[in-house]
Amino acid sequence: IAPLVGKLSKLGPPGELAAALLTRVAGAGAARGGPEIPQAVGSINAVVGQAFFVPLYDLFLTYGGIFRLNFGPKSFLIVSDPAIAKHILRENSKAYSKGILAEILEFVMGTGLIPADGEIWRVRRRAIVPALHQKYVTAMIGLFGEASDRLCEKLDKAAVDGEDVEMESLFSRLTLDVIGKAVFNYDFDSLSYDNGIVEAVYVTLREAEMRSTSPIPTWEIPIWKDISPRQKKVNEALKLINSTLDELIAICKRLVEQEDLQFHEEYMNEQDPSILHFLLASGDDVSSKQLRDDLMTMLIAGHETSAAVLTWTFYLLSKYPKVMAKLQDEVDSVLGDGLPTIEDVKKLKYTTRVINESLRLYPQPPVLIRRSLEDDMLGGYPIGRGEDIFISVWNLHHCPKHWDDAEVFNPERWPLDGPNPNEINQNFSYLPFGGGPRKCVGDMFATFETVVATAMLVKRFDFQMAPGAPPVDMTTGATIHTTEGLKMTVTRRTRAPVIPNLEMKIISDSQEPTLS
Ligand code: HEM
Repeated sequence: IAPLVGKLSKLGPPGELAAALLTRVAGAGAARGGPEIPQAVGSINAVVGQAFFVPLYDLFLTYGGIFRLNFGPKSFLIVSDPAIAKHILRENSKAYSKGILAEILEFVMGTGLIPADGEIWRVRRRAIVPALHQKYVTAMIGLFGEASDRLCEKLDKAAVDGEDVEMESLFSRLTLDVIGKAVFNYDFDSLSYDNGIVEAVYVTLREAEMRSTSPIPTWEIPIWKDISPRQKKVNEALKLINSTLDELIAICKRLVEQEDLQFHEEYMNEQDPSILHFLLASGDDVSSKQLRDDLMTMLIAGHETSAAVLTWTFYLLSKYPKVMAKLQDEVDSVLGDGLPTIEDVKKLKYTTRVINESLRLYPQPPVLIRRSLEDDMLGGYPIGRGEDIFISVWNLHHCPKHWDDAEVFNPERWPLDGPNPNEINQNFSYLPFGGGPRKCVGDMFATFETVVATAMLVKRFDFQMAPGAPPVDMTTGATIHTTEGLKMTVTRRTRAPVIPNLEMKIISDSQEPTLS
């Protein structure tokens, strides 16, 4: 097919379109002699104009755990069945690539770990996973605390000044500051300043999101891609990020050469515990484009996802004051005045359930993308090579047959003394970090990061939707964003002084544990 795609592209249609036209021919199911996958009809209008995964939910209720959606000349299989998801992600994962996702993200991630397939992915996964060892993740807890503390200072000022705050952009800055330090020891300090590099990261991210939701790949159109002001801006942003990465790699290389630490399994430089430092010390090739691609991939993977989790968690908490009260009870009893430690984080069991449940209702990303590399059977239906597949994590996580009161934010659905929910113990009905060999490498990191930030914020402040705040609707990029931000009123929590030795109940508006 590839030469044909090339020829068609030269005649006019962008490569992706040409590929889609041809894979439609290659992927016809009935020709394989099996039953035909249900085909959703009359759905295109419903899909346009809103977060695309939302109408897929109604189609799932109508057509079931696997159906075909035709979108112009393109055709997608939408999977919402846990057994089929498990088959694609784990049991037969070798038969699937990242497909469209790799094509869309190529400009920014190259062959980084998220889009990479085959041998490149295998080699890089083996190099990167060891960098996120236990000791590293534990060391990161201090970093999460420091960054969250900076955010608390900012919120404190807003609370004193009586100004409402837009939490989505603040969470985005918090997680950018964290991931910059964690991946390549760079302090974006975006909570304090808007410098050129922060702007460049946002230009790049917005481009990646635009490309993942745009029906027409204008960035592939010859000539246009060279003269479009938008593309020029993106290219300049990428240049700046790349030159900054080059500098950071050079600095880190010098540090590695000067230190006399022996490389071992839990190797970590206390002054610079970053993933880059680990990779260079382990012998990674400094000059390789692959190293830059992987750093860039982790920057993006670990930034927007965690920011989105925090945004939707705080939105949910504002809607469920009882959950907030219980959360604040736990945080008050666990956290002292200093920054949280790993022991504290382990005790924050309800806080962790709040994050688990937020990730169920708002999975980031809401769909996983794959392309079949060979013929296969999905849910009893034969499929051909070249099928583009969306695994709807959103549908799996909202399925009314699987979840009691699926739409209710109920952290209690997982007992505190039970295991942390994951794709294995929930048999692929719950997969916030994916599953199988391509599962997220940052799951522990991200869980601790969001737990620490949530705990520190609710310890010091109460959060309510700001009066007159715009409605909180969803839109999609790579993760779920709000359409108009999350405008909140933040107030310092007033806590009654604890008077020892009194048998009366202490009454406070902050649900302080009572002495009785
Ligand atoms: C992959 C979610 C944070 C690095 C994934 C996948 C999911 C996910 C669902 C699987 C994608 C697929 O199968 O197509 C999340 C969420 C996060 C988060 C919800 C935050 C709450 C992070 C962080 C890092 C990271 C902090 C880095 C430090 C990666 C990488 C992959 C990945 C490198 C690709 C793994 C591979 O293909 O081998 N993530 N992630 N993620 N994530 Fe995360």
